[in-house]
Amino acid sequence: MSLNEDYFVRANQVIPGGVNSPVRSFRSVGGTPYFVNRAEGPYVWDGEGNRYIDYVMSYGPGIAGHSHPQIIDAIQQASGNGATYGAPTLAEITIAEEICNRVKGAEMVRLVSSGTEATMTAIRLARGATGRDKIMKFSGHYHGHADSLLAAGGSGVANQGISGSAGVPKSAVADTIVTPWNELPELDESIAALILEPLPANMGIVPPKSNFLLELRKACDAKGIVLIFDEVITGFRLSKGGASQWYGVQPDLWCFGKVIGGGLPMGAYAGSKRIMSNVAPLGDVYQAGTLSGNPIATAAGIAQLQILNNDASYVALTMTAKRLGDGLANIFNAVGIEATVPRVGPLLSIFFTKSQPSNFDQAQLAAENGMYAKFFHSMLARGVALAPGPYEALFPSLAHTNDVIDQTLEIAGQAAEEIIKE
Ligand SMILES: Cc1ncc(COP(=O)(O)O)c(C=O)c1O
Repeated sequence: MSLNEDYFVRANQVIPGGVNSPVRSFRSVGGTPYFVNRAEGPYVWDGEGNRYIDYVMSYGPGIAGHSHPQIIDAIQQASGNGATYGAPTLAEITIAEEICNRVKGAEMVRLVSSGTEATMTAIRLARGATGRDKIMKFSGHYHGHADSLLAAGGSGVANQGISGSAGVPKSAVADTIVTPWNELPELDESIAALILEPLPANMGIVPPKSNFLLELRKACDAKGIVLIFDEVITGFRLSKGGASQWYGVQPDLWCFGKVIGGGLPMGAYAGSKRIMSNVAPLGDVYQAGTLSGNPIATAAGIAQLQILNNDASYVALTMTAKRLGDGLANIFNAVGIEATVPRVGPLLSIFFTKSQPSNFDQAQLAAENGMYAKFFHSMLARGVALAPGPYEALFPSLAHTNDVIDQTLEIAGQAAEEIIKE
């Protein structure tokens, strides 16, 4: 038995499925997960000493590359001053100011500890501010694991083959309306909020049709509905100001996570002073957190945002993703594998299908044809770690140099040759 197999047996005894987040279990691709014990730059190493070029990158936080020296330094310095106080800190002001400076229309920020907390609270805030109960979401969009938002979720909800989740009472989703992506929904005055990933990245990358976000903005304005952009993936990755800057459409509330924590647990929600004034202690929408604004997480987040504080970083991220995406598309084409590699700026994914899906139904057809699992394993065996699920994006970082991308492409060429023969 290999060390990874041994760990997996042990893990399964004491942790459900052996993992602390379902997609890590390899259930949708089969096989044994590698147990990581070190990461640096674009690489992770498992306990057996295998090195992988990593495109998981913790599903988004690792945008500067693993163990970036500036972030490690910031974490070390902050941790020397104590782990958590339960009192406000200067670092919380600094990161909130940084978010407001980058995101046009965001005037106040509340820090939380995960993306799930951010979306869950944004929904509560929208309901509190409007006095309405219903919310609408798009199928295939993933907003974390809050009860009311699990219905028709992408990411892990999709690749575990469960629709929503057991344990969610009907009453918790009774006010959640699910509607197909890229079709203008019918909205009315009973709806508090429309929440969406402005660039969906949890059913693969399925971009909005041209002007779709603007149409949604107008439709929400017409009915007094709070438009929420869940930018937990796109925030500070698509551009300095995230997806709202990229697409030129401003929501009423933003949800952030991943990148803003520099690899430590942190999320945030933000909006205008008017709407954020409903949050306790200013208003009557309650939300709190023992570790909210944690000093080590805020230090890591500030360091990561500083690394990303110039347009050149975003140009570099996009060029890297383009090199990878174009290269993969060329390889699949040359070998005769039907595939599309959608990319928007620095974010990309792979669909083993001829044409680009434009909604969740199409994405599911493309994701469930078995090709992804074959490609995944062929890449992993050669030292490239893609996410172990067909709905996840690839997350190239600033540490993925041209050489690393070219090595990846060489390996992808071999993997493609292998799977076409099967
Ligand atoms: C778009 C989006 N929203 C919310 C979440 C939930 O964030 P977290 O896993 O930090 O709770 C995720 C996580 O992948 C996400 O991709």
